[in-house]
Amino acid sequence: MIAYVVDHFAHEEKEMQAKSYGGYARHKDEHDKLVAICADLQTKFHAGEADVTDAVGQMVKGWLDSHIPQFDMPYADALNS
Ligand SMILES: [Fe+2]
Ligand SMILES: [Fe+2]
Repeated sequence: MIAYVVDHFAHEEKEMQAKSYGGYARHKDEHDKLVAICADLQTKFHAGEADVTDAVGQMVKGWLDSHIPQFDMPYADALNS
């Protein structure tokens, strides 16, 4: 799942850069934050310090639910115009 998210972000970032999208820096910042959270969880999980529970899934889902309308939609509009 982390690989999917990283892939998706990389794709969005490439598209934004290709179009010199003005909101790129802020949008990438958001992506980087989630990746950092996920990487941290992964480390803890491998160290046996964290469980990937429903709460974690909910957290990621919640993040995406707010990220998509706040960041992805404006950028999609800009790229399609
Ligand atoms: Fe996205
Ligand atoms: Fe995004």
